[in-house]
Amino acid sequence: MSLNIQPLLSDYDFNKQSTLIINGIVVDAHSETKQQILIENGKISQVAPAITDYPSDTNIIDAAGLYVMPGGIDVHTHFNIDVGISRSADDFYTGTRSAACGGTTMIIDHMGFGPRNCNLHHQLKVYKEYALDKAVIDYSFHGVIQHVNDEILSEMQSMVEEEGISSFKMYLTYGYKLNDDEVLRALHQLNKVNALTTVHPENDAAIALRRSKLIEEGKTAAKYHPISRPLECEAEAIARMINLARLADNTPLYIVHLSNGLGLDYIRLARNNKQPVWAETCPQYLLLDDSCYEREDAVKFILSPPLRPKEELEKMWQGLCDGSIDTVATDHCSFNYQTQKLQGKDDFTKCPNGMSGVETRMPLLFSEGVMSGRITPRHFVELTSYMPAKLFGLYPQKGCLAVGSDADLVLFDPKQKVKISQDLLHDNIDYTPFEEFESHGWPVMTISCGDVVACNGEFMGKAGNGRFIHRKPFLQ
Ligand code: URP
Ligand code: ZN
Ligand code: ZN
Repeated sequence: MSLNIQPLLSDYDFNKQSTLIINGIVVDAHSETKQQILIENGKISQVAPAITDYPSDTNIIDAAGLYVMPGGIDVHTHFNIDVGISRSADDFYTGTRSAACGGTTMIIDHMGFGPRNCNLHHQLKVYKEYALDKAVIDYSFHGVIQHVNDEILSEMQSMVEEEGISSFKMYLTYGYKLNDDEVLRALHQLNKVNALTTVHPENDAAIALRRSKLIEEGKTAAKYHPISRPLECEAEAIARMINLARLADNTPLYIVHLSNGLGLDYIRLARNNKQPVWAETCPQYLLLDDSCYEREDAVKFILSPPLRPKEELEKMWQGLCDGSIDTVATDHCSFNYQTQKLQGKDDFTKCPNGMSGVETRMPLLFSEGVMSGRITPRHFVELTSYMPAKLFGLYPQKGCLAVGSDADLVLFDPKQKVKISQDLLHDNIDYTPFEEFESHGWPVMTISCGDVVACNGEFMGKAGNGRFIHRKPFLQ
């Protein structure tokens, strides 16, 4: 469905190789100024208050009244993931299409687990095939550590240096959880090869115990899902990971999908002690609370970590505003309500975990963050693009609007008010957890490597145009 907001593309010719953006307010993580931007052959070639030397066949985009920002980088998606009881509904086409329409120009997907005992390169090969002809914007993957042995440890270096995979995820729960010994061995090696360790922190034993008690008592409705994994399970695992990383020569550590204030306090403490720890949260932990589990359609909100009590949301905002949280990603892991989530209607353990969000991340954070006055436009860029690029080996190719950077941009209209509804979105499922949210401000154009891939709610990109990006090693 088209929003038909502003005829931004009225004279646009898709065959031209250069584009000049005029009259916009150009925002990056450090400045906010009126500038013009010239794009040539997919790269930014000039940024200046007035650009006069540009090719005669250049498209001109009038961005008056709009913010011109680096395209969003969502460093936490799960496209086409097999979670055992289901496969996520968005593949690399519909997932990246949805991302593009929401102002995101690069994703880093968390690869799912492969066959038992497979090596690190196995899943990379599988995922490269998943994405190759499908992605409409640039992409990379985080390595996934299912088990630890000498072969896995020795592969890490080539994953980073030859394959450009400079971050890895370990899970402390689910089927392939790592024990402390494995975590320590992996941390040491990841540090050595200049990779960033990311972690899904939840205490598996505590969850298992609580789950089996709930099942024994017949408490399997969706509302028991958050009770099976309360915030202490997450906070304990965060504290444990922080200490293990410190023991492993202060290995850099990135906490994914942080959802609660206690976990955040442990992160703050570590940072006060100068430990290299970074944190990511997601819009659902800023905007949705555990009252969703009282709804009739509660299964829509089953994800891990679960939504938290209302008071936690303010703590998350506090963490964003004071700089204790570094990035906002989505953990987009989408399942259809009717055919997939409802499998868990009477038993939350049978409901595939996860929700969508790749298209609504940028507008919701812009609306609730910038327009509500909690964060500045610069801070918005820092959270959605600059820090993701810095931490995950993409800067300055991405994450800024500098000469020589990829021409990945989003044009935000701060005046647009859009009521979010599933029929506006471009993913492949039948609901959005953010239905009825009023977004104040909207991404009206997305440019990926110089090409307009979305405008006014209309997708204009092409499957297979996204490139696999070889990321640089992690450097502090
Ligand atoms: O429930 C969630 N978040 N599913 C996706 C996998 C993960 O834990 O990140
Ligand atoms: Zn996770
Ligand atoms: Zn995830």
